[in-house]
Amino acid sequence: MEKICWKDEYSVGVEKIDHQHQHLFEIINKLIERPVSSDDSELVSDILSEMVNYAREHFSTEEVLMRQYGYPAIEPHEKEHDYFINTTAELAINFMNNRNTTGDEITEFLIIWLTNHILKTDMKFKPFFAAKIPAGV
Ligand SMILES: [Fe+2]
Ligand SMILES: [Fe+2]
Repeated sequence: MEKICWKDEYSVGVEKIDHQHQHLFEIINKLIERPVSSDDSELVSDILSEMVNYAREHFSTEEVLMRQYGYPAIEPHEKEHDYFINTTAELAINFMNNRNTTGDEITEFLIIWLTNHILKTDMKFKPFFAAKIPAGV
């Protein structure tokens, strides 16, 4: 699988959020670069725990900013965040317990969900924050 690369089109115009998105990509790249045999080890579940923990921190950053500036579409956005946390945690548990899902399938889910969420849902707050948050935050 090819590593996931950051592109300018992913930028939502808020530096802190862009950096966090880049870090989420780095965590996914750890999965992509893992040795083939690692599905038999704890490596995949360790990386998934790291993903859940960091995604929580990142989502909380976005949610605090949306509330702080009175963004109008907070609720559906938060629902998407909750879906990601619940699904990723569930996939991690399935993977550890009965392994009816592969590391590659989970990696595909993470890539598709995150890029879609950034490009469709996070991108919606770009013009809103551009008018409210000073550059460099
Ligand atoms: Fe985000
Ligand atoms: Fe988001």
